[in-house]
Amino acid sequence: MRTEAGRPRRALLAAALLAAAGAAPHGAWAAEEASGGAQATAGFGADWQSWHAANDVADMASVQRGARNFVSYCLGCHSLKYERWSRLAQDLGVPPRLLEQDLLPPGDKPAQYILTSMPAADSQAWFGKTPPDLSLMARARGQDYLYQFLRTFYVDPASQTGANNLRLPATAMPHVLSELEGLKRAVYRQAAGTAQGQGTQQVFDHFEQIAPGRLSAAEYAGFVRDTVNFLDYVSEPTQTARRALGVWVVLFLLAFTWLAWLVKREYWKDVH
Ligand code: HEC
Repeated sequence: MRTEAGRPRRALLAAALLAAAGAAPHGAWAAEEASGGAQATAGFGADWQSWHAANDVADMASVQRGARNFVSYCLGCHSLKYERWSRLAQDLGVPPRLLEQDLLPPGDKPAQYILTSMPAADSQAWFGKTPPDLSLMARARGQDYLYQFLRTFYVDPASQTGANNLRLPATAMPHVLSELEGLKRAVYRQAAGTAQGQGTQQVFDHFEQIAPGRLSAAEYAGFVRDTVNFLDYVSEPTQTARRALGVWVVLFLLAFTWLAWLVKREYWKDVH
């Protein structure tokens, strides 16, 4: 279970109520999604640091959507060099025909690792940085980080890519999902002096949507959540099986303890 620390109480309560009412299968994030709907009109994002991915790797449909998102929007630059296409298809229950048709880049074989076709030298020249391999990124940075990273791109004319990011300021990654999310700008406010007490400084206050995308704010949040869910799965493909097995291991230990206790009672019966 992911930690919910830091999430505002109000949202937690609303999520719990929604979940209790059976209105949302994923109560933990329902509240945020609901408030996401209101984002289009008012400013939003003041609380971005407490946004949670709240993804669930056992939700196979979400992992599958995430895989599709990754292939469509990330594979052009990022690889998953520790995962093979065949393993992905097997874990996600993708039939070979669909794998070939929807996911596998032309010319790649199922037994190959998931590699980007972008040569490292080119990306180095274009972005000043080679896009990192994302196989272990969810474990290195955490799901919430990835979720916040993909949701806090904003327009910044001063940047080379035209975009900047709150989670990773001055990032070399362009806002590749702007077609879906639309464009937003960061609104700053003056804050009281720095530690040295000199003047004022600009701090981020909220986002303002300046152009719509193909998805609503709530749909975009869902898109990002699925993508993070997929990266979470890739970072440890066996985690669902591991957790399921854990239950049986604990049950076995309990049963074994009981047996051991019976044996002990039998042995000591005549002593007392
Ligand atoms: C046009 C190329 C390009 C595409 C497409 C792209 N990225 Fe990136 N990405 C980059 C570059 C370049 C960096 C290095 C950024 C840096 O270190 O400033 C990066 C860095 C990252 C990082 C690491 C951030 C960190 O903290 O170091 C993550 C996570 C990431 N990308 C996720 C994604 C996801 C998910 C997608 C698909 C939705 C995606 N990227 C699509 C170019 C791309």
